[in-house]
Amino acid sequence: MFYTIVGTQWGDEGKGKIVDWLSSKADLIVRYQGGNNAGHTIKVDNKVYKLNLLPSGIINNKKCAIGNGVVLDPWALINEIENLKKQGINVTNKNLFIADNICLILPIHKLLDEINENLRGQKELGTTKKGIGPAYEDKVGRRAIRICDLKNPKYLKQKLDNLSKFHSEKISKYIDKIPQNYYQELLSMAEYLDSFSVPLWKMINEFGENNKTIVFEGAQGSMLDIDFGTYPYVTSSNTISGQIYSGTGFSKKNNHKILGITKAYTTRVGSGPFPTELIDNIGEHLGEKGQEYGTVTKRKRRCGWFDSVLLKQSINLNGITDIVLTKLDVLDELKEIKICVGYFIDEKKYDYLPSEEFLFDKIKPIYKTIDGWQSSTAGINKINDLPINAKKYIKIIEELIETNISIVSTGPDRKETIDINGTLLNI
Ligand code: GDP
Ligand code: IMO
Ligand code: MG
Repeated sequence: MFYTIVGTQWGDEGKGKIVDWLSSKADLIVRYQGGNNAGHTIKVDNKVYKLNLLPSGIINNKKCAIGNGVVLDPWALINEIENLKKQGINVTNKNLFIADNICLILPIHKLLDEINENLRGQKELGTTKKGIGPAYEDKVGRRAIRICDLKNPKYLKQKLDNLSKFHSEKISKYIDKIPQNYYQELLSMAEYLDSFSVPLWKMINEFGENNKTIVFEGAQGSMLDIDFGTYPYVTSSNTISGQIYSGTGFSKKNNHKILGITKAYTTRVGSGPFPTELIDNIGEHLGEKGQEYGTVTKRKRRCGWFDSVLLKQSINLNGITDIVLTKLDVLDELKEIKICVGYFIDEKKYDYLPSEEFLFDKIKPIYKTIDGWQSSTAGINKINDLPINAKKYIKIIEELIETNISIVSTGPDRKETIDINGTLLNI
């Protein structure tokens, strides 16, 4: 059985929690895009783990892999492995496998990320400054350093020199000293990094052929997809489920569930359109109650009402089979709850988020209002224990999106999860 986990909104939907929950039954958990711009928080019995690059299955001591669709910052990886060790989680080449054709994020990419943002001035994207965009640019520009290049010092030196030469003209306009190319440091890490590296496309297809259970762990959210998100306010990778194939080399299409992880309201970090954003007390309340602060950059996340238009778009783009509704408990105190059911732009009705950047500012949401439940759902793990109005909220969303909500999450811990039909994990 294969599962793909995708964020349906603008990220931070609770993917890490759900991957951890699902991974108890998995044989392999694989990241297929993004990099250490992701921040996944997982809570198990009062212990909190924060992951950026490593798949969330690592907490369950499962075999994990990082696919070629990811851009890998070796310094960030080593740092994350060391931090996890302090929390009692050992990462070795028995439980971590990295695609040998993965492209690297180097210090120069972080510098370029910073420079590019400054150049945009008022129109900055609000990136995580982890070098994601510039690293993907070098990948498609066919100049990137890949992990397999580290095996050959002479070749590595030549490639690094070429890369520095390529970027130095731009960088020298903004800073006095061209940064070093980190050749020696990369060489010193080469053996360790190589110990994780495998032809992942081969390994993963063998797992598939042997009927193993694989979980593909997405990062970011569908509205941050480079093609289908709110361009240019997006990340630099394809975040939708189709990316699992080119991001890992996996090729099996059968027995696949695609789970769309969806917050019971909406959040966004960084710049860009957000039709249902609440710049009022309710928005503040959602942020406080939901602890909506970025894991990576510690920025306050923008908060707003649930948007069924956006979710329907994501369901279409990803081929989502089941929705996982997270953070329902955050809505507990609200007297009234609004759900966006359509948009008006210049008096014209829309049932989708248009691509045109010049229309973004004009989007006016159309709301349906329902009564809140004003009682605690925190930690509830049986559907029948939910208050009637919470069940109604779930039902209304299901009707609007024409897709089943199979799991509801009522708290950050693994145990605070409702598997509605109890069938999702019957592997
Ligand atoms: P990800 O990037 O999609 O993995 O999500 P993040 O980890 O960045 O953000 C989700 C946050 O909400 C984390 O701090 C989780 O511990 C927390 N969380 C997940 N599910 C729930 C839930 O159902 N209720 C509450 N209150 N918190 C949750
Ligand atoms: P997880 O996996 C939320 C946002 C950044 C910025 C835009 C581009 O935790 O859901 P980038 O550094 O990728 O070039 O920044 O994308 N962004 C995220 N927002 N969750 C994430 O990941 C994100 N990863 C990137 O805030 O607006
Ligand atoms: Mg996150």
